[in-house]
Amino acid sequence: MHFGGASTSDLFGQPANRKRVWAQMSQARSDALVIFGVTGDLVYKKIFPALAAMNRRGRLDVPVIGVARAEWTVDQLRARARESIVAHGGDSDPALANLLGRLDYVRGDYADPATYAALRKALGGAERPANYLAVPPSMFATVVEGLGQSGCARNARVIIEKPFGRDLASARALNQTLHAVFDESAIFRIDHYLGKEPVQNLLLFRFANTFLEPIWNRNYVESVQITMAESFGVEGRGRFYEEAGAIRDVIQNHLLQVVGFLAMEAPLTTYSEALRDEQVKVFRAIRPLSPEYLVRGQFHGYRKEAGVAPDSTVETFAAVRLQVDSWRWDGVPFFIRAGKCMPVSTTEVLVTLKRAPLRRVGPEETNHFRFRLSPDVTIAIGARVKKSGDHMVTEPTELKVVHQPDGDERDAYERLLGDAMDGDGTLFARQDGVEAAWAIVQPILGGVTPVHEYAPGTWGPPDAERLTADVGGWRVPV
Ligand code: BG6
Repeated sequence: MHFGGASTSDLFGQPANRKRVWAQMSQARSDALVIFGVTGDLVYKKIFPALAAMNRRGRLDVPVIGVARAEWTVDQLRARARESIVAHGGDSDPALANLLGRLDYVRGDYADPATYAALRKALGGAERPANYLAVPPSMFATVVEGLGQSGCARNARVIIEKPFGRDLASARALNQTLHAVFDESAIFRIDHYLGKEPVQNLLLFRFANTFLEPIWNRNYVESVQITMAESFGVEGRGRFYEEAGAIRDVIQNHLLQVVGFLAMEAPLTTYSEALRDEQVKVFRAIRPLSPEYLVRGQFHGYRKEAGVAPDSTVETFAAVRLQVDSWRWDGVPFFIRAGKCMPVSTTEVLVTLKRAPLRRVGPEETNHFRFRLSPDVTIAIGARVKKSGDHMVTEPTELKVVHQPDGDERDAYERLLGDAMDGDGTLFARQDGVEAAWAIVQPILGGVTPVHEYAPGTWGPPDAERLTADVGGWRVPV
């Protein structure tokens, strides 16, 4: 599914070539992929499998050049790529040898101009490389400058991963660093939630169905809850997590993007930036969070994790109550909670409608829409039906569609890497969106409220209940 940019048709099936493209992007596909930090974990876990999938579908017919500091040979890189792809289910991939044959390796320090000279040479005749920066954020500036000074940035694209800064000021500084060398249309900030099939499904369900629009507003919707629960802890990422915490790790980015898709106005179909414009408008309508609308928790045992301070007050759980000050949503609370070591792993959105007046036949339960974004894709409509028997009373039921991935769907990284190489920025975080999202969480960064301990396997600290007390509490995902 595509919405804009280089796609052949958009959300409403309008041919892209009939669009008035305001922000004209270079649409030529990248003719090489350069991966900085190719020896690291992220590339092993996500990027090699995504490249293999692109290659299988005939979508990666360009040289792939890895850059890193390690004293590796190209054969070592190929062995590592093979190991990753096999470990992720690609052992019988007939196209694997072809992909491995196109891998190349440039060894060097990111601050050394010689590294970029060697890269330029390895690029050969390629004129429009896409540079994927799988390096720590502290190295972004060094690599971007290196690319700029060596001429490797000419006609190039740059792809980066979150975190995009750690607060509003550092996000702005990062954007300045990037803009010193790359135009915004050449920058692709990956928030992998935007590339997920179920998240796109949520967006399409909203705008492809007539029945939703008349009720999708403050007149009918009572509240919106988003729960992102993970049954595991920080899995050896203690050092990283100490710098992040749940607010920076998933609320400022993934979950606010979901709020954006739930709350936005229908994007226009006449220009390619429409979707991102609507997303940013939602972020700007959300009031900066005040500490009274925040509850933070930390699972018991977190302080014993490797890389975690014994007196750490970093949150592994956060719950917030947002207010969207728009005509459509005035007065409707949006709740987000995200936590590690929860009872289950699932991400679910619950849009609860206001109660029907006939309380006698069905007093408590209201109607709802439930969108499950992982582990499977579910869209359910909660309704009341007559309970069989002599009495005119109702019972709750759900009309639902469950979609189990069939194994051949594009995963978020495959989709996003392909889009970045196509120059289609629709599903990437844009500078103004990143900054607007930081502005929402800025007042609650830095441990402004106490952190409450919770037992692993529970739904976080009981204090979180106070946020949702006036709408009947948090609903446990199904
Ligand atoms: C990452 C966070 O961005 O998203 C992790 O850093 C989190 O802490 C992960 O576990 C969740 O992504 P997914 O795709 O597994 O739901």
